[in-house]
Amino acid sequence: MSWENARDYVSVEMRRRIRQFGYEGADIIDLTVGDPDVSPPDWLTDQLIAWMADKSAHRYPTDESLGCRTFREAVADFYYWRFGVHLDVEREVLLLKEAKEGALYLSLSLLEKGDVAIVCDPCYPTFRTNTTAVGANVYSLSLGSDGHSIPDLSSIPVHVWEKTKAVFINFPCNPTGLSAPLSFYQELVELAFRYGFIVVNDNVYSELYYGALPPCSLLEVPDAREVAVEIHSLSKMFSVCGWRIGMLVGNAEVLRRVLRIKQMADAGVFMPFQLAAAHALRNGEAYLGQLRSMYGNCRDLLVQCLRSCGFQVRPPEAGMFVWAEIPLAEDSEQFCEELLAGSGVACVPGSRYSQNGRKHVRFSLSASDHAIREACNRIVKFVHLHR
Ligand SMILES: Cc1ncc(COP(=O)(O)O)c(C=O)c1O
Repeated sequence: MSWENARDYVSVEMRRRIRQFGYEGADIIDLTVGDPDVSPPDWLTDQLIAWMADKSAHRYPTDESLGCRTFREAVADFYYWRFGVHLDVEREVLLLKEAKEGALYLSLSLLEKGDVAIVCDPCYPTFRTNTTAVGANVYSLSLGSDGHSIPDLSSIPVHVWEKTKAVFINFPCNPTGLSAPLSFYQELVELAFRYGFIVVNDNVYSELYYGALPPCSLLEVPDAREVAVEIHSLSKMFSVCGWRIGMLVGNAEVLRRVLRIKQMADAGVFMPFQLAAAHALRNGEAYLGQLRSMYGNCRDLLVQCLRSCGFQVRPPEAGMFVWAEIPLAEDSEQFCEELLAGSGVACVPGSRYSQNGRKHVRFSLSASDHAIREACNRIVKFVHLHR
């Protein structure tokens, strides 16, 4: 088991790249990381401060790694009102320090050397890295050349299914914003029963959607909890990436195994963050509506701008990123460097998310409307100069 050959995590690499090029402090519009610069709501931060002022809140958290009951109940209630899914608060809800932590512990608890894990391509990169690091083999499940096609499960040979221990999917997808229909989850759950693997969906963008139909949860499939878990997080929903708090829900045995690891690695999350997360999950609807409208506007601006200068791009259905095929260079690494040097706009080469991402780049929408407008002006100028 080794992470030695893994690339640095994408946000670390991107921040270093901006520094290395001597752009730190310069007039950079950083559209690399999905780290909202919008504030969490005042009613949430005010309450958090009040809880932090309580002197008794600074001890080890109640129920330690498992998460306090108030938090777990709020998660279960959120899953019920949002997805119609009933969760057993004691066995089917687990606190995570972050979604990223969940991704790692699931790889550690589900996979062994020589196993196969099926991973969508493109996808949130930690699933592929962790699978490889634990010595398992990745079978890539393509979302098509533009990252907007629901994967064809019938294309996977039986001998691959027979060796598969886990399927990692991430819908709504980072980086493309593709949402999966319930029928896809149904098909996958049936296969999981047939071949005996666990399905993991990373659903952290479920609330940032731009169409009439909100994304669904994998756990909406009847009996999915027998073979599936879902990762979720407060980071993007409530613009609190700095808090580091999320949740793992679904199959009780998988959660138990993850908890065994967590007990050796953490003692939970600072109580005021857990209480505030519960408060946000119970009262966040209006704020989420504002976020959807804000990101939706930024999405429309950026998509329109990119199309006007020759990028191939489909508007994301959800999430906070735009995935675009570049018009100029064959190589998106080079394109990103030139765009940064020539315009001060930073974005991520597609190869960080996809084996076939050489022609794509990812732009984050987690910047102000003003910054996105300015980025659009600069991108248009840059493309016209280099044509
Ligand atoms: C799909 C996906 N999952 C998880 C995360 C990380 O979430 P957290 O901040 O809870 O670790 C990200 C962050 O970009 C993401 O895009």
